Amino acid sequence: MSDNHLQQVGVNPEDVPHVTLASGAKIPSLGLGTFGSDRYSGTQIAQAVKDAASLGYRHFDCASVYRNEAEIGDALRVVTEELGIPRNDLWITSKVWNDCHDKVEQACRESMRDLQVDYLDLYLVHWPFPNYHAPGVGVDARDPHAVPYIHEQFMRTWRQMEHLQKIGLVRHIGTSNMTIPKLQLLLADANIPPAVNEMELHPHFQQPALYKFVKDHHIVPVGYSPIGSPSRPDRDRTPEDTVDMEDQVIVSIADRLGVHPAVVCVKWAVQRGHVAIPFSVKRSQYLATLKGVAGAPLTHQEMEAIAAIDKNNRLIKGQVFLWPGSTSWEDLWDIDGNIKSVSA
Ligand SMILES: NC(=O)c1ccc[n+]([C@@H]2O[C@H](COP(=O)([O-])OP(=O)(O)OC[C@H]3O[C@@H](n4cnc5c(N)ncnc54)[C@H](OP(=O)(O)O)[C@@H]3O)[C@@H](O)[C@H]2O)c1
Repeated sequence: MSDNHLQQVGVNPEDVPHVTLASGAKIPSLGLGTFGSDRYSGTQIAQAVKDAASLGYRHFDCASVYRNEAEIGDALRVVTEELGIPRNDLWITSKVWNDCHDKVEQACRESMRDLQVDYLDLYLVHWPFPNYHAPGVGVDARDPHAVPYIHEQFMRTWRQMEHLQKIGLVRHIGTSNMTIPKLQLLLADANIPPAVNEMELHPHFQQPALYKFVKDHHIVPVGYSPIGSPSRPDRDRTPEDTVDMEDQVIVSIADRLGVHPAVVCVKWAVQRGHVAIPFSVKRSQYLATLKGVAGAPLTHQEMEAIAAIDKNNRLIKGQVFLWPGSTSWEDLWDIDGNIKSVSA
């Protein structure tokens, strides 16, 4: 790919901010999400990966449960072989799904085979529960064998994650959808602490306590649904949900900058100091986001104004992971600081 192309259409990847992990490695602060929310096909998403790379994206957030890693692998091969972007310049994340907590190496090797890579930059435990549900099921579906968080069980999974890093299949390991009490237990027992925690983060859901906790422990927060997941599956919608992109604070900053409110949400995330992984298959969108992140920063007053609009509005509640006897999705999130093991 010629430098001219980037200068004319895209962004020089070096102009995209990054966050330095405890290992010293640098993760691009902007990645492209690849979960199609049951709306977008693997082919569309793979095309977006390829095109986004040609525009300057270097970071892709994948997972086996998104059921599109094989298509994305074909796209990544084009990115390295035809666009000439070296593998070492890419940051590729994948995640072990809940039904593979006892066969992590096998799951990792399958993702690597599908993605056509010989190492992953980051491999995450997608959820801290081994609870399986079929793809696309409704919010009331339950796994009859579902269990609450069991630390000894999670540590068996984590030891397999540590092994992957030791044998060089993955460069970093991390967690996702964790809480402070669960991370405290993990940090006490881990030989290799998580490099990142992937967590829901957007202006209406800033998670200040967990955010501070992970930063204090040198764990980088990776924020999913950074725009407020406007295209999330219907099963993940409740009437109380608020809409970040319609918040007057976001809208007025977007007006000043002449950008879409989505871009403001992502700029805020990157400037706050975490990594954001917005999803899009539309060139106008992912290009605008890339340019926004590489462009002039929000003002201090704008950052303060966005900090003040947190509504503690969790969108991805995770009901399908509940276990028999649990009462509410809040049981998954240790709201009162205690890990729920049985029903209240
Ligand atoms: N670790 C986990 O458990 C977990 C959970 C959820 C998500 N994730 C990751 O996070 C990624 C992103 O999350 P998400 O898809 O839920 O939500 P999101 O990134 O907040 O929202 C994505 C939607 O925002 C719209 N959008 C994106 N860029 C835009 C722009 N520049 N202008 C206007 N609209 C724009 C698009 O809507 P339209 O479709 O209407 O165009 C797109 O579908 C996922 O793809 C996945 O990789 C991880």
